[in-house]
Amino acid sequence: MSKIAIMGYGTVGSGTVELFYKHKDKLCRTLSVDLDIKYILEIRDLPDDPYYNKMIKDINIILDDPEIKIVAEVMGGLNPAFDFVMRCLTHGKSVVTSNKELVAKKGAILLKTAAENDCNFFFEASTGGAIPIIRPLHECLAADEVYSVEGILNGTTNFILTKILSENMPYEKALKLSQELGYAEKDPTADVSGADSCRKICILASLAFGKHVYPEWVYTEGITQIKKEDAEYAKAYNSVIKLIASAKRCDNGKIAVSVRPELVCRDNQLSGVIDVFNAVTVYGEAAGELMFYGRGAGKLPTASAVVADIACAAIADGTSRTQTWEDSTDSDFIADSKSIPEAFYILAKNTGEGAIKAAFGEVLYLSRENQPPEEFAFIVPITTEIELDEKISNFGGEIVSKYVING
Ligand code: HSE
Repeated sequence: MSKIAIMGYGTVGSGTVELFYKHKDKLCRTLSVDLDIKYILEIRDLPDDPYYNKMIKDINIILDDPEIKIVAEVMGGLNPAFDFVMRCLTHGKSVVTSNKELVAKKGAILLKTAAENDCNFFFEASTGGAIPIIRPLHECLAADEVYSVEGILNGTTNFILTKILSENMPYEKALKLSQELGYAEKDPTADVSGADSCRKICILASLAFGKHVYPEWVYTEGITQIKKEDAEYAKAYNSVIKLIASAKRCDNGKIAVSVRPELVCRDNQLSGVIDVFNAVTVYGEAAGELMFYGRGAGKLPTASAVVADIACAAIADGTSRTQTWEDSTDSDFIADSKSIPEAFYILAKNTGEGAIKAAFGEVLYLSRENQPPEEFAFIVPITTEIELDEKISNFGGEIVSKYVING
């Protein structure tokens, strides 16, 4: 019998317990393992909860109990999660987690510690909610060389953008709704600032390219500056605005990693991903293009990935099948995303076509209904952002928005 401890009983933790007991018999039968949850580590007193008799407040009870073979960390945040997970792994207990901040910031050391202690550290639920993406990247594409990983990795912001841009819902209302539905982080700044997507693309990039990509090395921009006008002009360009996280191998071997709103053309499948859904496109040398799609946030979608990892940890008991990547001491292998040639969308005010031509050369103008005479939206053909910023610095008009075109 393998006993499980759950650390944290918030949205994902309670979903994990609920889903585990719903499918316990089937899980045990199909996996030929005997599993049960023995403890739930939770700081709050919840005497009315049906699992109150399993609740403990002291991590040492888990560490000192030899029956506990698997620990699910679903508390979120870096502290005390990092300390607790390290201690579980050094006690030889496999850990599964939904905690993207933990994996993005401490993944390399945790993976190494798991391997050294003949146990596993699994984190399928950390990226893409219910979407199986970590194991496919690590196992199914083991024989391939990944060129790029790109996608929509935050359910909250995709939900907010969908509500604002398609249903005209005010930003605050859309954010509040995403919190009520259990999509947003405790502090939703992490969602709307792009930090959550950044952590997730760091995890996917580390896995795909084999070296730890730390969040502070990634150019990150959120959704708070997107204007209604941008969406209207995007429509005129047969595009939609999406928060895109991407990691690509460049010709010089470096990896370009970024999180930013982009104008995604309608013939790109990412443009059709709406609401809380996430999608990830992977290009492999051998496999070509692959796409993974599903619910990127929410109690049960995320819990389904946690429970599946618990099952994998139970099957792997006594062996280390943990994914691996090297730690990295510097960011030399990360390309400056501003040096990658791209086409750009620009929204400018208080200017005219003469000034635009003088600064940017020939551009493609976009229009919208009720466009004020001093407002101009246009597409600048392929250039690097470094060159574009130089042109902007010599431009007399006001730049309101600047987004990459994702073709
Ligand atoms: N706040 C996250 C999101 C939760 O909206 O995607 C899932 O990681």
